This record gives sequence, structure tokens and C-alpha cells, in this order.
Amino acid sequence: MIDGTKMLTAKVINRVQELGFQDTSRWLWSHVDSRIREKTLNIETEAWIEADELGFEAECHGYEPISYANFDLAIEHLTIQPGEDVFLDYGCGKGRAVVLAALQPFKRVIGVELSQQLCQIAESNVERIKSKTNAGSVEIVCSDAVTYEIPQDVNVIFLWNSFTGSILEKVFEQIRKSHKESPREMTLVNCVPKGEEDMMASLPWMTFDKIVEPRFFTGVEIIFYRVEAE
Ligand SMILES: C[S@@+](CC[C@H](N)C(=O)[O-])C[C@H]1O[C@@H](n2cnc3c(N)ncnc32)[C@H](O)[C@@H]1O
Repeated sequence: MIDGTKMLTAKVINRVQELGFQDTSRWLWSHVDSRIREKTLNIETEAWIEADELGFEAECHGYEPISYANFDLAIEHLTIQPGEDVFLDYGCGKGRAVVLAALQPFKRVIGVELSQQLCQIAESNVERIKSKTNAGSVEIVCSDAVTYEIPQDVNVIFLWNSFTGSILEKVFEQIRKSHKESPREMTLVNCVPKGEEDMMASLPWMTFDKIVEPRFFTGVEIIFYRVEAE
């Protein structure tokens, strides 16, 4: 694993240059916030792991968890139907989004992850919050998102910068196939690093719903789409 302090310093310098001092200060605060949340939940999800360290090809991204503040915001803008909605995190890494979703009254929460090493850590984190879980069940599936067959009751899909290019296109096809086989209303929450192309925007079978601007720092756009029941 690359030295964490060196990576943080490089990230801070890049960020100040790209987004300014105020944004960077807020972003750094979000890391302090994350330490507090990790301690409270007794989980360990904070890390940056480059794709090549995980042995991935270029279109699969490495691990960087969603910030707690941004995930909270995404949840605030979802209307969860308790005991009915099923949440899927594509590329769940160490399971931060899965753990936070498991605190909500979802029927089921699923995390799909390619790295076996990260799957094991995610499972351990899920185990640690067992007594606090509000979801009916929580499952980590160690699989390539490209080949993962989406269960027919999944209706909330969360994506935070897990892959790009042809991998993302194949994942979109999986979502479309699942919807065709079992038409239902689905919500897609796509968290996109600011300045990067939102590939969902060009899909004619998805309807743009809203963009939520993070109140904390500006590096991410949280974009909601719907796939309607037919
Ligand atoms: C930016 S992290 C997102 C972590 C997590 N969703 C969260 O919000 O905390 C991207 C994750 O996608 C995983 N990943 C990359 N390519 C994948 C693939 N083809 N199938 C499944 N997971 C993949 C990486 O291992 C990494 O853990």
C-alpha cells in the first residue's frame, strides 16, 4: 500500500490548485469527521488504494470511500420504503456505503466488490455493526460487477466512481437487463467526481431526476436518475 501521508499530501496540493483553499479545508474537515464516525460505528473503511495495487485493469478504479457527509446527503434525498426497498452498492470496497445503508430500514442491502481482500474487510465491518442494523439483511458479494446478475428486487443502485468506459457500459447493460426482466421503478444514485463526464446522462432509458450539491465540499456531484416501471 502506498504511504498514506505522501498520498494525502499530494492530494491536498492537487486539490488546493484545482478547487482552492476553502474547498480543501472543508474536504480535510470531512476526513476528521470520518475518523469520528468510524470510531462511533467501530468500523474501518478509511483508505485510498490505487487500482494497480488491487491488480485491476485500467477501467476498474481503486478504493476510495464515499465521504460520510455525501452519503448522508444521498440518503436524505431518497424516500426509502421501509421493508421494501433493496439497496445495491456497485464496488462496495471496505463497505462504508453498505454499512451506512444498513442503518436504514431497507429490506436488504447488497455490496458487490471485485477485490477479495476488500470483500473480507467489508464483511468484517458489516459484522461489527450487526447490533445497529435496521436493514432486513446485509450481504457482501465478491464478484465482478460486469458479470453480477442483479437480483430482481433491487431498486436503489448506488455508484461512487467504481469503474469507467466499457466496464461501466456493461454494468449499465446489466441494470437494463434486470429492469427488462422485472420491470420496476428503480433509483440510481450516481456520485461523479466534479469535472468528469456523467455517462448515465446519455442513456435514453434513464430519466434524470435531480442533482444534489454537496453542502460540504465541491469535489462531487450526486446525480439521481430513475428507470420507470413499464
Ligand atoms: C471509489 S471505490 C467506492 C467504494 C464504496 N462504494 C464507497 O462508497 O465507500 C470503488 C470500488 O469499486 C471496486 N471495483 C472496481 N472495479 C470493479 C468491478 N469490475 N467490479 C466490482 N467492483 C469493482 C474497487 O475495488 C473499489 O473498492
